[in-house]
Amino acid sequence: MANDRLYRFWADLDEALITGKPQNEIKHSGKPIFEELYADPNKLKQFINAMSGISTGNFIALAQKFDFSRYKTLCDIGGAAGVLSVQVARHHENIKCTSLDLPPVAPVANEYIAKHGLSNRVKTGNVDFFKDEFPKADVITMGMILHDWDLPNKMMLIQKAYNALPEGGAFIVIESLIDDDRRKNAFGLMMSLNMLIEFGVAFDYTGADFAKWTKEVGFSRVEVIALAGASSAAVAYK
Ligand SMILES: C[S@@+](CC[C@H](N)C(=O)[O-])C[C@H]1O[C@@H](n2cnc3c(N)ncnc32)[C@H](O)[C@@H]1O
Repeated sequence: MANDRLYRFWADLDEALITGKPQNEIKHSGKPIFEELYADPNKLKQFINAMSGISTGNFIALAQKFDFSRYKTLCDIGGAAGVLSVQVARHHENIKCTSLDLPPVAPVANEYIAKHGLSNRVKTGNVDFFKDEFPKADVITMGMILHDWDLPNKMMLIQKAYNALPEGGAFIVIESLIDDDRRKNAFGLMMSLNMLIEFGVAFDYTGADFAKWTKEVGFSRVEVIALAGASSAAVAYK
């Protein structure tokens, strides 16, 4: 993905900074990016596989570091190939996982989950998080989802996660969280520029931003857990 897509698009970073507009495939078509990418089965696979490559180390670290023993159900929103669900299910026999994404993604996820022998404990399903509420679950996860959208859509997704959780439930986001002073996590800051290239209005954020937004919605407590490299999990408890 970095070679085939992003390298060329970053040549227009100056235009993105001046206009605030995306510089990828949708620069001229004006279509929503996932509609554009998922219309081509090869681009769909390339994107989903790239996400698996970027995220697997973080999801293994999350499965090892977060205490999932208190929970029975997890729903991963925008789960792509289902890597997060597979890693949590591999490490924690007590938990049943559901990986939800747009309809074209399910066949790729089903294949990945079957390859790991976990089709009995990891289910897939379709969701359009702009239209649908989320199913009830003890844990709602979002890997690199909030950073794809502007603040009103981030808040809409946080509210839907809150609605789906019981008291004591956990909402976990996995991102290249920027440090609160915005001085150290250069990768997180670069990722935020990458979101400008990909979506225009989208941006990465700090743990303090996440704490503020989730408290506005009603979550009681937030913690940040360092994962692989520049990434972290931020957990909000209902
Ligand atoms: C940046 S990828 C993150 C994938 C994965 N969670 C990870 O961290 O590796 C964003 C995901 O959001 C999904 N997505 C985009 N728009 C969506 C929508 N309206 N409803 C549900 N999922 C959506 C995409 O299909 C894609 O899998």
